[in-house]
This record gives sequence, C-alpha cells and structure tokens, in this order.
Amino acid sequence: MKILVIGSGGREHALVWKIAQSPLVQKIYCAPGNPGIAATAECLAIAVDEIDDLLAFARENAVDLTVVGPELPLTLGIVDRFRAAGLLIFGPDRKAAQLEGSKAFSKELMAKYAIPTAAFATFEDYAAAADHVRSQGAPIVIKADGLAAGKGVFVAQTVAEALHALKEIMVDQAFGEAGRKVVVEEYLTGEEASFFALTDGRDILPLAACQDHKAAFDDDSGPNTGGMGAYSPAPVVTPALYDKIVREVVRPTIDGMAADGCPYCGTLFVGLMIRGAEIKVLEYNVRFGDPETQPLLMRLKSDLVPLLLACARGNLGQEKLEWHEQTAVCVVMASGGYPGSYRKGFEIHGLEDAAGMEDLFVFHAGTALKDGRIVNSGGRVLGVTGRGQNVAAAIERAYQGVAKIRWEGVHFRRDIGRKALERRS
Ligand code: AMP
Ligand code: GLY
Repeated sequence: MKILVIGSGGREHALVWKIAQSPLVQKIYCAPGNPGIAATAECLAIAVDEIDDLLAFARENAVDLTVVGPELPLTLGIVDRFRAAGLLIFGPDRKAAQLEGSKAFSKELMAKYAIPTAAFATFEDYAAAADHVRSQGAPIVIKADGLAAGKGVFVAQTVAEALHALKEIMVDQAFGEAGRKVVVEEYLTGEEASFFALTDGRDILPLAACQDHKAAFDDDSGPNTGGMGAYSPAPVVTPALYDKIVREVVRPTIDGMAADGCPYCGTLFVGLMIRGAEIKVLEYNVRFGDPETQPLLMRLKSDLVPLLLACARGNLGQEKLEWHEQTAVCVVMASGGYPGSYRKGFEIHGLEDAAGMEDLFVFHAGTALKDGRIVNSGGRVLGVTGRGQNVAAAIERAYQGVAKIRWEGVHFRRDIGRKALERRS
C-alpha cells in the first residue's frame, strides 16, 4: 500500500519511521517532508495547506491512506475534501477539528458534558472581558480563541498583564481573526501531561501518556516553545489516573462530539493539568504531539498502519496495543535564539556517529540540505530520542546521542526527563 504523510517536523519523521516498519507498506510519500524523512519517504514539494495539490497528488498516484500531521490542514478541511473524493484519510474533519481550532468551542463542549477543566468565560467585547478580569483578579489566563501558532495563550501573573494581553488580542488584533473571541480562564497549578488516544468516532484506543517540556530553558524557565523534549510513559499519570482520564475525559469527549453531530476521527491529544488525583483539561489538540510522538512511537511495538486504517475506515473495534517495556526520552536540539530569532544554515556535524547507536534515533525537524550538507533551517532542529530499561537509562542514551551532534549556536535543555526521574527514584 502507498501512504502519504503530510507535514515536515519531528512528529512526521516519527510517523514515517514507524509506518515504514509495517509489512503492509510499499511506498511512503511525505509532503513536504525534510532531509531526515527523505531517507525513507519520497518528499514532495507541496505545502501542508495546498489542499488542491495534495488531493490531486493522492488521486493521481493512487495513495491508499493519507495521514495528516499538523492541525492547519485539518482546520482547513482537508479531511472533508479527501473523503468527498473517496480517498481514505486519517484525521478529524473540519467541524471536529474545531476542538483545537476554537478554544471557545472546546470549552463549551467540556462544560456541556461535564468534562473537568478550568472555570472560564468567553468574550467578544474588550470592555466586558476587561471588567471580568478586574473582578476575578490574578493570576488568570487569557487565550485567543483561534489558532495562533502556540502564541495565543497568556498566563498573567497580574491584572495589568492580563489587561495587556486582552488589548493585544482584541484591540491590536495581534492574531487577526483568531483573536475575535477570547477565553478568560481560571489559573491552574500542577504538573502537565499529554494524553493520546486513537478513535474512529465511536471506539477508543488510548495510547500512552507523555510529558512535554514547553519552556525554553532548564528548570522550566524562559519563554514557552513548541516543546523542548518529551518522554513516555509519564509516571505522573498513574494507572488509576490513566483510567480516570479515559473515563472522565476521552470517552465523554468522543461521545459528546458524536452526539453534537461532529463525530471525531483521528488522534485526540488531551493536554492535562494534574494535581494529586485531580485532572483538568488545559486544551485539546486534534493531532499527534510534537515532540511527544517521537518517544511515543519509539515505544510502540504494534504495527501502526492497521490502526490508522481502522480509524479512517470507521472500524477500530476493540484493538489492543503492544508496547516495549522501556522508557523513551526525546531531547530537542534547537537553533540558538529559538523561540526568538535565530540564524540558519549552519552545518550539522555528528549525525552519522549518532546514527550508529543502538536504542537511539535522531528525528529531523528544522533541517535542510544545502550543497549536499545538512544544515539547521528551523527553530526545533532535531529530536534525539533514546530508549532504555528505565527513565535514567533512556535519559543517558538520549544525551549520549546529543553529545555526538553539534552546530554553531545549538541549544538544548539539559534536564529533560528529570521530573520522571524524581518520581521514580
Ligand atoms: P494551551 O495551548 O491552552 O495548552 O496553553 C499553553 C500552555 O499555557 C499550557 O501548556 C500551560 O502551561 C499554560 N496554561 C494554559 N491554560 C492554563 C491554565 N488554565 N492555568 C495555568 N496554565 C495554563
Ligand atoms: N508538544 C505540544 C504540541 O504538540 O502541541
């Protein structure tokens, strides 16, 4: 079978890497892909939002299944277009993708189906939102309703900061249409976790829990990024919490979406705040996480392809998964300056040394080929992912890989996995 993966990050490299291990697959295409992905898949010069071109390619090349990595094409309705053309595609349709595309939509769904989340109010009017913030006090969280490339959430420590965020979103319109509405939310404390489940809209297959590291620097300091590292499983999600998340969040979300006439098919990614036995949903994403997918798929023993197919076809049933009884840790190596501005085009050294290591895989994200050499071309450049018998061993393996790789200005966190280590030891 022929599979088309859409996207170009570390997540898509991990998907391509895993899909390539399936005996069902003869050929993988990736649009647009990256130089790491190009070792396994044929990369196409089509951007993720060029839906007409993606559809034409899939038709002309008799692609059997398309797997969508990022949220943008999902919120633009790529799944609706492919389905209308009779093509199999893995991911939610445009209506269901609102779960990530509109924070107001997701909060209203949670309120309607009693899914635990922070208390909130939604506003379209700046003055009303500002009054609400003043009456609630700080800390308080301000979120632009729509997609804002991860920049639309402000955790304000003071009322002044919150009002500033409201002004930026609603008056200055820093996020355009995405900021037409805002969600003002209760500030939560605890430990964050990422939970993933596959679903065909009816049946659910929960995957493992992961933990991301959003802050740019060690000890969770500095600005938020797309994610500087991740590990799986996440010991903060105990077996009891795992069951609770499935029962109180994933199940009612999928049932609620179906009852509301927008059945959800694909990967449901729930961002959670955990405090003791209490769980609260911070957000939904309608796709796999990046970098969470890298450690997640390094641990998955089962063939992913029949599962993706079953979700896309609507016959997931009661599938079971097999996992490697190991921990996987992914350390993101980024360009110096990220998430601010950074310089590109520096040659990356040591990739071949790392490629020879056992229980290690280097997933590419922001890399490019320049004069036959691999150079940095994005903020998050590589996801160096190690596997080990326990958290300590996986951390050690990942950082042994990191130690082999270098380029000018490279930046990475040195404490990825520490939280899991503290819990385990
Ligand atoms: P989101 O995109 O909604 O997940 O928000 C991005 C990040 O902001 C989360 O990963 C949290 O670190 C933080 N955050 C979001 N909502 C809240 C909240 N209600 N309380 C505290 N922190 C939050
Ligand atoms: N790592 C968080 C995300 O993929 O949104």
